[in-house]
Amino acid sequence: MSEFQEKALIITKETLTRDVFRLTVQAPLIAESAQPGQFVMIRVQETLDPLLRRPFSIHKISPDGSVSILFKAIGKGTRMLAALDPGMEISIIGPLGRGFDLSSSASFCMIGGGMGIAPLYFLAQQLLGVQRALDNPPVLLGAQTQPELLLLAQEFTELGYPVHTATDDGSLGHHGFVTELLDDILENVQQIYVCGPMLMMRTVVNKCLQANVACQVSLETHMACGMGACLGCTFPATEGGYKHVCKDGPVFSAEEVLWTL
Ligand SMILES: Cc1cc2nc3c(=O)[nH]c(=O)nc-3n(C[C@H](O)[C@H](O)[C@H](O)COP(=O)(O)OP(=O)(O)OC[C@H]3O[C@@H](n4cnc5c(N)ncnc54)[C@H](O)[C@@H]3O)c2cc1C
Ligand code: FES
Repeated sequence: MSEFQEKALIITKETLTRDVFRLTVQAPLIAESAQPGQFVMIRVQETLDPLLRRPFSIHKISPDGSVSILFKAIGKGTRMLAALDPGMEISIIGPLGRGFDLSSSASFCMIGGGMGIAPLYFLAQQLLGVQRALDNPPVLLGAQTQPELLLLAQEFTELGYPVHTATDDGSLGHHGFVTELLDDILENVQQIYVCGPMLMMRTVVNKCLQANVACQVSLETHMACGMGACLGCTFPATEGGYKHVCKDGPVFSAEEVLWTL
């Protein structure tokens, strides 16, 4: 699979909340070859600090060759990224990693928590194109509070998906964990796609195992190189040994992961 390094012009910056942003950049080579679940490595500054690129899921692809990322500013790199403006350029490498396996024609449900929603939008776009229509069970989206979720929920709805939401503070949808919404749905699906915090994904995987439903998880770990060279992103695999999130994933079938949390 080809990877490209592009000097990408920032076209838009959307501020969803005080610390959640969406950047859309012009990166036609990456846009043309990306698959849902893959990621990009972004150099947030021309300077040597921070030295390492930061990984972000590909959130959205448009036919005009643009690529969007959705991110929360949690540290130095993401705060620098959030400070960039349209008209500026960033260096972006991608598409990287192994994305979601879309070969199953089973009835599916996507469940995303926090910034884990990011790759699911691209997946939702692609699933519309390649297969099943919209009589599916709803997309389940969870976040801390309403402002983080409102626009994203609306965009999944505009694609045609039914959407159920959950917030920690009860300001939108179900008051509680998004995983609690899964119970009513599991008996109607054969395939779950999940991305979010590790504990959330672990809960989803346990529910899927009990219900005998297939589950694909998109993992996030610390990453230095993003290309299999530094061993910084490994996790223990069920079959023994370790796997690289950057090369073998970030998407895995739930059974491949030795869940230690
Ligand atoms: C494949 C992949 C896809 C990702 N997609 C997205 C995305 O779509 N949107 C998004 O907001 N973030 C995403 N992330 C996480 C994102 O890369 C980190 O938030 C970012 O690298 C933090 O950089 P920083 O310099 O701001 O934080 P740092 O200053 O490096 O760290 C700030 C704090 O965050 C913690 N931290 C940093 N990275 C991670 C991580 N990967 N997991 C858990 N804790 C971490 C650090 O331990 C530290 O406590 C993804 C990560 C991976 C591996
Ligand atoms: S990030 Fe370097 S090996 Fe995965």
